Amino acid sequence: YYESGNPSIMRTPVETLKALGCEILFATNAAGSLREEVAPGHPMLITDHINWSGLNPLIGEEDEKRFLDMTTAYDLELRAAMHRAAKHQGEHLAEGVYMWFSGPSFETPAEIRMARMLGADAVGMSTVPEVIMGRFLGMRVAAMSIITNLGAGMQAHGLSHDETKSVAKLGMDRMKRLVRGFVKEIAHG
Ligand code: HPA
Repeated sequence: YYESGNPSIMRTPVETLKALGCEILFATNAAGSLREEVAPGHPMLITDHINWSGLNPLIGEEDEKRFLDMTTAYDLELRAAMHRAAKHQGEHLAEGVYMWFSGPSFETPAEIRMARMLGADAVGMSTVPEVIMGRFLGMRVAAMSIITNLGAGMQAHGLSHDETKSVAKLGMDRMKRLVRGFVKEIAHG
């Protein structure tokens, strides 16, 4: 969204995946952690989200399906499969609620305090519109964050995009291993 100002920008890519026969959408992102114990470099499985942006890719959609049930947006069986994969690998997999801020500026410390009070475990600038779109198209959805920093005001230094990119790179191997294990788990049932 922060690249375009259009919350439906990912509609065509997600629809294309669906048209190609994809039944599961697995979304990944970099995120700031609101829990000190879930430190930079750690993966966090997303269990639910808070849409803090006021935006929605289904605004203006005419199909009645736009009144989309989000009760189990993050598929329970897929989450269980990811936890099994993590367990096999001796990986401690945190899980929690992801809160979507539009970006591209990072949050303020006051916004981070608010996010913690509202029940979020991580903050980021993506994923929520794609998840809504995937569910709208009838896909099963799972999503995972790589924690690249603690939320603004929770760490001694400020936030930067360079840090996001370099820590995300460091966390990538863990994420890749988990995704491979996850694919094996869902392929074997
Ligand atoms: N806030 C928002 N998006 C992010 C962050 C953050 O702290 N870290 C990585 N992406």
